Amino acid sequence: MSTRPRPTERKLYEKVADRLSAAIASGTLRPGDRLPSVRKLSSQQRVSVSTVLQAYLQLESLGVIEARPQSGHYVRSKHALPEEPRITACPSTCCRVRVAELVARVYESLRDPKVLQLGSASPATEMQPLARLGRMLARLSREATHDAVSYDFPPGSWELRQQVARRSLEWGCTLSADELVTTCGTAEALTLALRATTKAGDLVAIESPAYYGVLQAIESLGLRAVEIPVHPRDGMQLDALADALKRHAIKAVLVVPNFNNPVGSCMPDELKKELVDMLAKKRIPLIEDDIYGDLHFGAERPRTCKSYDRSGLVLLCGSASKTLAPGFRVGWIAPGRFVDLVASIKFTQTIGTPSLQQIVVAEFLESGGYDHHVRSLRKRLAISMQRMSEAIGEHFPEGTRLSRPQGGCVFWVELPKGISSLAIHERALAERIAIMPGPLFSPTRRYENYVRIGFGHEWSPRIEQSLMTVGRIARAVPSR
Ligand SMILES: Cc1ncc(COP(=O)(O)O)c(C=O)c1O
Repeated sequence: MSTRPRPTERKLYEKVADRLSAAIASGTLRPGDRLPSVRKLSSQQRVSVSTVLQAYLQLESLGVIEARPQSGHYVRSKHALPEEPRITACPSTCCRVRVAELVARVYESLRDPKVLQLGSASPATEMQPLARLGRMLARLSREATHDAVSYDFPPGSWELRQQVARRSLEWGCTLSADELVTTCGTAEALTLALRATTKAGDLVAIESPAYYGVLQAIESLGLRAVEIPVHPRDGMQLDALADALKRHAIKAVLVVPNFNNPVGSCMPDELKKELVDMLAKKRIPLIEDDIYGDLHFGAERPRTCKSYDRSGLVLLCGSASKTLAPGFRVGWIAPGRFVDLVASIKFTQTIGTPSLQQIVVAEFLESGGYDHHVRSLRKRLAISMQRMSEAIGEHFPEGTRLSRPQGGCVFWVELPKGISSLAIHERALAERIAIMPGPLFSPTRRYENYVRIGFGHEWSPRIEQSLMTVGRIARAVPSR
């Protein structure tokens, strides 16, 4: 009798793992893709749940896939992702803010519609619910009711405030419609908050790096800023803030705790509480910009600082700009004890918020269409973030560092020292690609070797190609 050993029969879970490996090797499943849930795969493959779990465990131990808490299993990237950016030390002095001219110059160069807005902090139009919004606008325009075309004086649309108040439960708050004022986007909400809490010459503590819109508002109101460093994952560093509060007469603090722009960091809840308590003790208002809070990749929406506010000193600002349509200019503010003052400044500033758009956003929020849309938007952004991170790791110069946002639309790229992001911006524009150069995000034009890149684009060969181009340019610009 022959003694040739029989090939060992592959176990069922190994066969499942083999099939998944083959799908990954052939590119059917790509790095960053989410694998089917355990239950779904078990019914698709007609195997038990424990067989799928064993298959996933095997692939995890081989480094082919990874489990992400509360989110599922994902195909791992072939390239190690770049390290996170370093925290930059900030001058402890206060300064006048001078960014308006640089921002205007960069924006002027973005006007060409053929330019790919790779630095944009908004989901691209293909990710917006255009058809549905269009239908709602058309119907309401046809009906042309009094409400849709008249002035809507502050505090603004009751329906919208009611819907936002309902949503506030998800932010950890229990706001009522009376506590809200509608605004022309978060931008106006922030200006109202600054105007209600400060006067020209006052000092405001801000994140560093900071969203340039905040810097522009501070500059135009004649305020001064003190920069507080941002940790790449946890946001504004509270020990540095405590230090600044001891040294300076700070009149307000402005933060973007959830997925801030440009870093993408998210302040853990316990630090949000610490921040609110720290400022309440000193009776300093906290201006909270929560524009990206709904765009979380994890299972839970992060809370707001407002949810810890017991003294009415937190002014919470938000909008539908990143989730529905930036051009609608529909936002809101929950200004706490400053509500009457904010409503009266709003009246003198813009009289009201666009009426028709407020009604559309209120209907969208009420219909459940919002939840459905945002669920899918979050998944698409998470995939794009993963793919773009890998491409940046592959194509950007050695030593590039990159933040790892768990939500929002942007990441912060730290290039090796000496590489000028303004020079990259100029050269990339010549190839019809726009990135956002780092000096825009500092009152004093620091962050020379940093760039903001947005991941609000559907991943595509064009996006990959554009990242390769920016990487090539970054390698080629003369280093100083
Ligand atoms: C952090 C932050 N706040 C405010 C805004 C402005 O928002 P809105 O379009 O709602 O005025 C932006 C836009 O990019 C932003 O990133």
